[in-house]
Amino acid sequence: MTGDPPVRGMNGATSSGTGMAETRTAAPQPRLKASPACPAIEVASLVKRYPKSSGNAVDGISFTVGRARIFGLLGPNGAGKTTVVGMLTTRVRPTSGVARVAGIDVAARPAAARAAVGVVPQRNNLDRSLSIRQNLLFHAAYHAVPRAGAARRAERLLDAFGLAGRAGDKPDLFSGGQSQRVMIARALMHDPVVLFLDEPSTGLDPAARLFTWDRIRELRDQGTTVLLTTHDMDEAEALADQVGIIDHGQLLAHDSPQALVRSLPAGASLDVTVTGPAGLAAALAVLPGAERAETAAPLPGGPATGRPHEPMRYHVRFRLPAGSDPGTLIPAVAAAVSRYGGRLHQAVTATPSLEDVFLQLTGRTLR
Ligand SMILES: Nc1ncnc2c1ncn2[C@@H]1O[C@H](COP(=O)(O)OP(=O)(O)OP(=O)(O)O)[C@@H](O)[C@H]1O
Ligand SMILES: [Mg+2]
Repeated sequence: MTGDPPVRGMNGATSSGTGMAETRTAAPQPRLKASPACPAIEVASLVKRYPKSSGNAVDGISFTVGRARIFGLLGPNGAGKTTVVGMLTTRVRPTSGVARVAGIDVAARPAAARAAVGVVPQRNNLDRSLSIRQNLLFHAAYHAVPRAGAARRAERLLDAFGLAGRAGDKPDLFSGGQSQRVMIARALMHDPVVLFLDEPSTGLDPAARLFTWDRIRELRDQGTTVLLTTHDMDEAEALADQVGIIDHGQLLAHDSPQALVRSLPAGASLDVTVTGPAGLAAALAVLPGAERAETAAPLPGGPATGRPHEPMRYHVRFRLPAGSDPGTLIPAVAAAVSRYGGRLHQAVTATPSLEDVFLQLTGRTLR
């Protein structure tokens, strides 16, 4: 409770988010530094059933996230992502199960939990009557960040998020993407152990998305744990150290994106189309992962006699374990083609992705 909070993330940002009920008259919350020995997030058999609902919005999920990791909660609309974030940030009361942030049970010690988390909600909840600097400072005051340190931190954060010239403007003057940057800056004002970002990229243009991704990676590299929700597989794959796939309130899989993709029965593939003598087909057949030529047609304009030197068109498929790069086979294919005086017409690689993992788990596509 004394001095500047330690600088973590965003060139000196500290933060906490505000998805929870926060009013301008709220009493300052105690600053609490949770034990770094605990995982950042622990969830065990967590359930949420909303009143009058016939089913569970979150249906008994369990997972753990270590410190300084990016965890991506990936799932379609209505899967339960926001409800999970709501429970972990004290906005939603769990029906049963346990949720801890930085070792703090969110149901038993909600005020302490709020000090440990920052929240960027799915919808804009900036205070429209305050300038963005005041939004940041009010948030810091709520979390009992000393005033002088908070003012310096606000300036650093506004600068880090490209908002330095806009500090005096009210939120109504900001675009959706700009508001989202303000909300991240605000969430970092009290140096949370865990930052929750509910669909941080929705509505952002490609450049803004990359900017946000870079800031999130910086935060992770500086020791903050980030839980983000998304229905964008590319985002989960590009950003998350660990991905949890959620559907109908259940966690269907939880692992690194690479491990999830490697778990697929189908791996990467390379399809090549070549022309050349039969010897070329035989040479390709002994390369790693080669499957039999799927079709072998005579070249247009000449009758096939079946003589071994006669050029033919071959399609060969190579299948490789998931996680390997099928493009690395192309030089060996090209060398064989050249040795036999043939021609390489086409080489098409296909690499399985989280999209295929989701399809495998649910039988549906996420897009
Ligand atoms: N306050 C509420 N009261 C009743 N039901 C709710 C409430 N909030 C969410 N739900 C229901 O809980 C389920 C999960 O909703 P949730 O908002 O957690 O999903 P989500 O994965 O965040 O979806 P989206 O991608 O659309 O944001 C949905 O069926 C939704 O209708
Ligand atoms: Mg949501």
